[in-house]
Amino acid sequence: MLTNKKLYIKTFGCQMNQYDSSKIFSLLKNSHGFEKTENAEEADILLLNTCSIREKSQEKVFHQLGRWKKIKKINPNIIICVGGCVASQEGKIIYQRAKYVDIIFGPQTLHRLPNMINEINKKRSLIIDISFTKNEKFNNFPKPHAKGPTAFVTIIEGCNKYCSYCIVPYTRGKEVSRPYKDILFEIAQLTKQGVREINLLGQNVNAYHSKTINGDNCSFSKLLRLISKINEIDRIRFTTNHPIEFTEDIIEVYNYTHKIVNHLHLPIQSGSDKILKKMKRGYTVFEYKNIINKLRKIRPNISISSDFIIGFPGEDYDDFKKTIDIISDINFDASYSFIYSKRPGTPASKLKDNITQNEKKQRLYLIQKLINQQTMKYSKNMLNSIQKILVEGVSRKNTNDFFGRTENNRIVNFKGSIDMVGNFINVKIINILPNSLRGEILT
Ligand code: SAH
Ligand code: SF4
Ligand code: F3S
Repeated sequence: MLTNKKLYIKTFGCQMNQYDSSKIFSLLKNSHGFEKTENAEEADILLLNTCSIREKSQEKVFHQLGRWKKIKKINPNIIICVGGCVASQEGKIIYQRAKYVDIIFGPQTLHRLPNMINEINKKRSLIIDISFTKNEKFNNFPKPHAKGPTAFVTIIEGCNKYCSYCIVPYTRGKEVSRPYKDILFEIAQLTKQGVREINLLGQNVNAYHSKTINGDNCSFSKLLRLISKINEIDRIRFTTNHPIEFTEDIIEVYNYTHKIVNHLHLPIQSGSDKILKKMKRGYTVFEYKNIINKLRKIRPNISISSDFIIGFPGEDYDDFKKTIDIISDINFDASYSFIYSKRPGTPASKLKDNITQNEKKQRLYLIQKLINQQTMKYSKNMLNSIQKILVEGVSRKNTNDFFGRTENNRIVNFKGSIDMVGNFINVKIINILPNSLRGEILT
């Protein structure tokens, strides 16, 4: 068994990858006594948790590996591991392009890393394990370790939607929900460590379903109700959601408990029905608006955010205009937008891409300008309002300050004291900055 060994982890991609990376660290700490290092040069293991959602994310992987090649030249004993969605998609091709890689593992085999490391220490030859396992990894995770008052918990993995442009169903496999009891147990363990806010993760959290002890269905709305009954948990967030499964019973939970934050990330992707159809999203703009209208009847001030794909094959200027219109129509708060990226093996990759790169860039610029204006408008409306924030710790920019987040995910910096960390406090918003707000404690 190795001791005093150092692990360097670099993570790309979504929050599920972040969650997985934190579990990888706990697993290797428990099995081999690994400590984390921020300095790749002093590491015994270099581990890359990858993302392949867009071509650019995938390119980053090989750039990073190129840098690590130099480190391995100096220290041939170093173990290089590649996991995540690129590993799942490319498998051995990674090794063919980077012969110095030792271990290739997938999002669902990361719990086997301790064994893989034992094997590699015995015999230096490539190990690849990118198989899909059903909940096996969750069953092998060590006790969760809270890093502060807010924590992530993956409740469902994979995706069955097969949107025409997306790689995720191929890299992350079919939708598999974790048993609800395991989720409640993980949350209970986190609350014992001071966690007050839980953020449920999944490619589509609202597709969640498992069975209760009586054999009844435990839907996503039921899971939310169960979590809301945990006294120590005061705030519940969840991401990401898909409009086709954002059903009435989920909307009703917003009425049932105010522990669910006044914020929802519900990606629409495009404001044009023609494009939504080509994307195989399974809903129309009208149906999307209906969900938001119903939600706003219960929560008039709820902030809604979205993802947008710009320049999807066949998107003409009129389709693009419709996306512009839906942004102001729904009055989205902060949103993400990306230029469409062709992903190998997806149905959309065979569509004729008729838009020039320049045009796509121009459209992205216009969309982002509008989104930023709206985000700013939302923030300005918060000026002088009283906001409840969960104090997470010392501010990153100014160590004399503390910070917390509002329900709609704005960071608020304020003058406070260490005893406030982990508690909810009310602050008055006194200044609006581009990426954060300034608050003042109410006496
Ligand atoms: N399951 C979520 C999204 C997960 S992927 C949903 O369906 O909404 C996160 C975001 O990446 C997507 O919302 C989409 O906007 C973006 N994305 C996915 N594939 C893409 C591609 N091929 N090109 C550009 N953006 C993409
Ligand atoms: Fe990708 Fe669509 Fe699944 Fe979201 S719902 S992960 S965009 S296939
Ligand atoms: Fe990327 Fe895989 Fe997440 S492709 S966005 S790391 S599910």
